[in-house]
Amino acid sequence: MIEIIRADKNNIKDIQLVSNVAWPHAFREILSPDQIKYMMNWMYSNESLLEQMEVKNHHYFLAKENDKFLGYMSIEHNCENSGKTKIHKIYILPDVQKKGIGKLLLDTAINETKKQNGSAIFLNVNKYNDNAIGFYKKTNFFLAKEEVIDIGNGFIMDDYVFEKEIIYE
Ligand SMILES: CC(C)(COP(=O)(O)OP(=O)(O)OC[C@H]1O[C@@H](n2cnc3c(N)ncnc32)[C@H](O)[C@@H]1OP(=O)(O)O)[C@@H](O)C(=O)NCCC(=O)NCCS
Repeated sequence: MIEIIRADKNNIKDIQLVSNVAWPHAFREILSPDQIKYMMNWMYSNESLLEQMEVKNHHYFLAKENDKFLGYMSIEHNCENSGKTKIHKIYILPDVQKKGIGKLLLDTAINETKKQNGSAIFLNVNKYNDNAIGFYKKTNFFLAKEEVIDIGNGFIMDDYVFEKEIIYE
């Protein structure tokens, strides 16, 4: 059975085991090898992950089956005082995608956002990441805007921002 667990600094290695495979695979036909290397170090070094968890209030979750980690997600509530939760990262290992694990993580994000009375969930996705865009459309996100972000070293992120309203019953 797949379970979703909260992750903390003791799981940094577990997150990196998944990200080292899932992240380059997701962007292998979208970004250059140099940009992949730069962004991996920027977002997934020990220092960066620790800072995200302990300073930036990014909450990490891992999808786990027995002793194997299959995916991860990080979210930030009330991002930039918007009253909305941002999904910073959601990645599943390539060979277990489209088996419902992304949905389990998204449901976790929705439940966590409800606990904070958040009004919506939003995220950035690369404009050419058709696989992820298909998932967001299927799970009722709408296209909110486009965004080009300069991330240094001559690299940019050419993104859509997708958003999904939180429904309270
Ligand atoms: C995007 C991602 C997180 C989705 O997770 P997943 O586990 O593959 O998706 P799920 O199996 O939970 O899919 C949930 C639903 O969306 C559908 N779906 C998933 N990907 C889809 C796609 N590309 N197009 C259309 N529908 C899709 C599924 O069929 C399923 O529908 P159902 O509920 O009717 O059965 C995962 O594919 C992934 O990690 N991709 C690579 C990393 C990445 O690009 N992350 C996002 C960065 S912004």
